[in-house]
Amino acid sequence: MTEAHDTVQQQELAQVGVIGMAVMGSNLARNMARNGYRTAVWNRTGSKTDAMIAAHGHEGAFVPSQDLADFVASLERPRRIVIMVQAGRGTDATIDALIPLLEAGDIVVDGGNAHYEDTRRREKKLRELGFHFVGAGISGGEVGALEGPSIMPGGSPESYAALGPILESISAKVDGEPCCTYIGTDGAGHFVKMVHNGIEYADMQFIGEAYEMLKAAGFSAAEAADVFATWNTGDLDSYLIEITSEVLRQVDARTGQPLVDVVVDAAGMKGTGTWTVQAALNLGVGVNAIAEAVFARATSSDAELRKAAQGALSGPDGKVAIDDSDPINREHFVNDIRDALWSAKVVAYAQGLDLIRYAAQEYGWQIDIAEVAKIWRAGCIIRAKLLERIRSEYAANNLVTLLEAPSIKAELARTQDAWRRVVAGAVRSGVPVPGFASALSYYDQARAPRVNAALTQGLRDYFGAHTYRRIDMPGSFHTLWSTDRTEVEDVDSH
Ligand code: 6PG
Repeated sequence: MTEAHDTVQQQELAQVGVIGMAVMGSNLARNMARNGYRTAVWNRTGSKTDAMIAAHGHEGAFVPSQDLADFVASLERPRRIVIMVQAGRGTDATIDALIPLLEAGDIVVDGGNAHYEDTRRREKKLRELGFHFVGAGISGGEVGALEGPSIMPGGSPESYAALGPILESISAKVDGEPCCTYIGTDGAGHFVKMVHNGIEYADMQFIGEAYEMLKAAGFSAAEAADVFATWNTGDLDSYLIEITSEVLRQVDARTGQPLVDVVVDAAGMKGTGTWTVQAALNLGVGVNAIAEAVFARATSSDAELRKAAQGALSGPDGKVAIDDSDPINREHFVNDIRDALWSAKVVAYAQGLDLIRYAAQEYGWQIDIAEVAKIWRAGCIIRAKLLERIRSEYAANNLVTLLEAPSIKAELARTQDAWRRVVAGAVRSGVPVPGFASALSYYDQARAPRVNAALTQGLRDYFGAHTYRRIDMPGSFHTLWSTDRTEVEDVDSH
């Protein structure tokens, strides 16, 4: 142990520590210190710690260390250590370096965008060594980390008892209620954060489609910005709609063009949307609207394919004819898109929450969906007025799907005509709206008394003797397709 270590021992111990002084980590540490917590900080490259303290040390009580052992020794026990490093190998390396320095009952938190299976693995490993591991999803970007994010912690209930008060106090608040709650054991928190991101992808895809429709009807970026700003005062009120109008209003200083027109139309992604869809595929849950958002980003970035198709494929010119001189017509058009956007958004939430429901069954998590909606109401990227409604609907009703919630189904009954008009109009005009269309198909598939799966079963039985069930009796059956086509019961299935 170093000399600094002994000195640290004599100082007042820190209540919480943050590892990783990149923007998210330092902002989270500053948030803790600003909220009155004595906060230990450490970074692999010490100069970053120094720079953070030089710039922000006056904001609260920080205990900086240059040595990891000193950092650990500077914390009161049980230690609460939040790791904010690049997800993946960086997290594992940090955990491995910490392990020999920890004592029984210490709590290690991973605040990055980790895959929930990694979190499950790490939690098990640390639990077996006598430590607690908390996978905490943190949403809100850099500003959120500093001013109040939405926090989704998963781990042992015991660790939450020690950690919860700190996390709740640094989280965003709605009417004094923190946007942080215990989600469930091991990977539950990171799973919920992953689904948050899947919904975020869908939300952004729908916003993009709404803008494409406005553009197709001749709206300038600035006019579309006004439309989004108006929507933000109604049921669509949300952070993403709010910043959409800001992005659309931005004028590029170099060219004088709307910025959105000079940005390359190839969407990037770090992978959390893909994880959401992969998890849904593994669990067998339909999340087609979320998947469309991931695929739309992939297709947008496939420059080679798009170039080949642009030269080869014909179709409508992507223009929507509305009578611009008729304000009523224009207003109806805008309102239709608003309703389509709201409806599709509800479907994305329904799919994401359904995925959480399935995962909870699979992994034995006791996840309270009303509480999840509650902590998404502020701080996070998908914060929206709709979330208060989702919270109250789940709190009041035992819902299989959000779509059956009384106020949601009533609203969808009203909005669906507009939604259908927008999808039909887009299809007719050649404007791609994979998100709106696929969300609508899900809505229609979910409510249909019979779907095409019966024919699928017939085909599977024909070519592979995969059997089918009948609507009028129990058991599994097979038709002898290649002989006399009589039906036999598949006794093995009993
Ligand atoms: C958040 C965001 C955050 C990040 C996404 C972006 O909740 O604060 O979701 O996690 O911005 O990872 O993801 P993509 O780069 O994949 O769009």
